[in-house]
Amino acid sequence: MIPLKKPRVLLVAGARPNFVKIAPLAAQLRPPGREAHADVLLVHTGQHYDDAMSALFFEQLGIPRPDINLEVGSGSHGKQTGEIMVRFEPVVAEWKPDVVVVVGDVNSTVACALVAVKLGVRVAHVEAGLRSFDRTMPEEINRLLTDATADYLFVTEPSGVRNLRREGIAEEKIFLVGNVMIDSLRSFLPVAQRSNVLQEMRLMGDSTGPGRSAGPGKRARPFALLTLHRPSNVDEKEKLARLLDVLNLIGRQLPVIFPAHPRTQQNMERFGLAARVRTDWGPGDCGVWMTAPIGYLEFLHLMSEATFVLTDSGGIQEETTVLGVPCLTLRENTERPITVEEGTNTLVGRDMDRIVRCAQEILAGRGKRGRVPQLWDGRAAERIVNILLEQLARS
Ligand code: UD1
Repeated sequence: MIPLKKPRVLLVAGARPNFVKIAPLAAQLRPPGREAHADVLLVHTGQHYDDAMSALFFEQLGIPRPDINLEVGSGSHGKQTGEIMVRFEPVVAEWKPDVVVVVGDVNSTVACALVAVKLGVRVAHVEAGLRSFDRTMPEEINRLLTDATADYLFVTEPSGVRNLRREGIAEEKIFLVGNVMIDSLRSFLPVAQRSNVLQEMRLMGDSTGPGRSAGPGKRARPFALLTLHRPSNVDEKEKLARLLDVLNLIGRQLPVIFPAHPRTQQNMERFGLAARVRTDWGPGDCGVWMTAPIGYLEFLHLMSEATFVLTDSGGIQEETTVLGVPCLTLRENTERPITVEEGTNTLVGRDMDRIVRCAQEILAGRGKRGRVPQLWDGRAAERIVNILLEQLARS
């Protein structure tokens, strides 16, 4: 019998949230200890390059070393996107994949999708269809353009399917499969909960105090967890200063742990705002506690133990929904409406009063509990790979 030729799948990752999404896809395509379903080429664009933003994620998530790193680094949108395209094109032309798989909504996503489609290579987009309807967000443009190029659109929530239909995408290209970021969460949470991050952050209170469980006989002190990196929140001094003021108000009641994105750290220095956060603290202190970016496992552990989360990230809105931890999203809109409708998410924008009021509600025990959306069951990557292999075998 002539052996069937394996499909050639090129997987792209560029920025921190991408790594969390490709981990389960890579594992499904090449299950450890079993025969691979496909020939896989893993390409890292190098959009994120610091160890704490990249290498640490590969290591903790067990992602194989990238076969190729395009090492594009930072730059303006045009420069970064263009540079990725220039460096990615010869890779596709030479390796001749049957499909290029891109995830999420970062510049690497759109750049690689555009290269592939122009070379006549099929594109699969994982996390398709999400729309914030805010065209000032760079990610919204990336989402619209990537979906317009894609042949297979893998969607996390029903709003995504509706958006794609409205944009005239053919029904047979759309697959509602669930959420690969939640696949990673479910498989790594037990490992994450063995991390020492609560001790390292000096969050261990006494064993009789309030707070969530931090392992047998231990309790973490109540704390809030914060992330902030959207250009709309951190690129203007006045806006960032106002946000830090309100976060300090919350910080009077419980410590606000803030692993800061490099862009946010740089802006705080540049705007002279660094003194508004603490960089060292004692176990009984309050305030906003800023640290360098931390690993996936440590962040997952903190998230699962937090009293509530404040964020402008997309993925964290989804992760808190699955963990049942209330999330206050510091944005006016979300491309992930299911986290508000069914999950624990509340959009609070930059409205000081609203942020403080919502935090008080949570501290009074009236935070949203929510439920886990359908198909966010840890098996999205399995569904995606099955569909992809079937589709490729047909064509
Ligand atoms: C990118 C994504 C955003 C995603 C975020 C997650 C786009 C348009 N934006 O935003 O959707 O939510 O990643 O983190 O793709 N920097 C470093 N080290 C790094 C990476 C970045 O110091 O490893 C600094 C650089 O100063 C750089 C800045 O962070 O200029 C911004 O990085 P960039 O990749 O352009 O965008 P992000 O803000 O990270």
